[in-house]
Amino acid sequence: MRVLVTGGAGYVGSLVCRELIHSNHEVRAFDSLLHGGDALTGLYPEDRFSFLAGDIRSADDLNRAVKGIDAVVHLAAIVGDPACARDKSLSLDVNHTAALHLFDAAKNAGSRRFVFASTCSNYGRMTDPEHPVDEQAELRPVSLYAETKVAVEQFLLHQSHNSIEPTVLRFATVYGISPRMRFDLTVNEFTRDLFVHQKLTVFGEQFWRPYVHVRDVARAVRIVLDAPSDLVRGQVFNVGDTRENYTKAMLIDKIQRALPNETRIDRVHRTEDPRDYRVDFTRIKRELNFEITRTVDDGIRELIDALSQGVFTDPFADKHRN
Ligand SMILES: NC(=O)c1ccc[n+]([C@@H]2O[C@H](COP(=O)([O-])OP(=O)(O)OC[C@H]3O[C@@H](n4cnc5c(N)ncnc54)[C@H](O)[C@@H]3O)[C@@H](O)[C@H]2O)c1
Repeated sequence: MRVLVTGGAGYVGSLVCRELIHSNHEVRAFDSLLHGGDALTGLYPEDRFSFLAGDIRSADDLNRAVKGIDAVVHLAAIVGDPACARDKSLSLDVNHTAALHLFDAAKNAGSRRFVFASTCSNYGRMTDPEHPVDEQAELRPVSLYAETKVAVEQFLLHQSHNSIEPTVLRFATVYGISPRMRFDLTVNEFTRDLFVHQKLTVFGEQFWRPYVHVRDVARAVRIVLDAPSDLVRGQVFNVGDTRENYTKAMLIDKIQRALPNETRIDRVHRTEDPRDYRVDFTRIKRELNFEITRTVDDGIRELIDALSQGVFTDPFADKHRN
């Protein structure tokens, strides 16, 4: 297929482009390069790759982007609670309004598939901590970021009668190394801080989240695009593995065990975290045969290896956070 990857220069997108190219799809990455375009340099040598710089808020840019495209993977967004809180109107325009326009532009251009990157943050706070939530659970967004994702999901899931078939993927919190490295994601950030400073302040260490390696997210996107449309049309899949739900305390324990030196943890007690959720990932495994290939322990080892060998010139640089 000829696939448009919006946000193709991003943390997840740059690996999605690679994954699709390596399974013989033709990829057009589209991105406004908010965090620069370094992640694209390794893609230019690929025969089946092209790039279009543009803004998904521009109708002209969208129409150029979707021309001749069979499928869209929509990743472009203002990503994360802090980034969205900084400029609410921009976040609504990019994450919500522009996503709807992109869907219409893709439909009018004759695309058949539309894969939307959503988030497990949509689940908000669990009502019953003993039971991980699955795709049927009520969504309780507690940030503007999650609200914009829920709004787009709801729009898309009412569109399944169209010639273009939407699929919603709710990613767990992502970790691991990507060509556009992010050190503002929990596993990456905690590992960096404990490696470099040997100390970390942690707020609310008892709260749960699910985690997934960035490479496995890219594989999940490819698996969805390659799946028969009957299995994915109008469907929602959580992307991760049920065994990879951890509290922050559990993550820290894993990182401490992987590091050679003593580290110090300052624990700040919190009784409330609106985002406290454990997620069930049975569906994607059962229906699409998706299995993760990396665990959080693997990701921590990979990060320590790269940090200790000086792979990142400055892991604290602004370009590594949203
Ligand atoms: N990283 C995670 O933990 C995580 C978890 C759940 C869901 N997601 C979703 O996955 C997707 C990718 O996230 P990421 O971690 O790669 O973030 P990222 O910030 O690295 O990538 C987003 C990309 O979108 C681009 N972009 C932003 N505004 C744009 C615009 N107006 N026009 C064109 N491009 C624009 C940016 O330049 C950037 O390259 C997002 O939709 C995000 O909500 C990520």
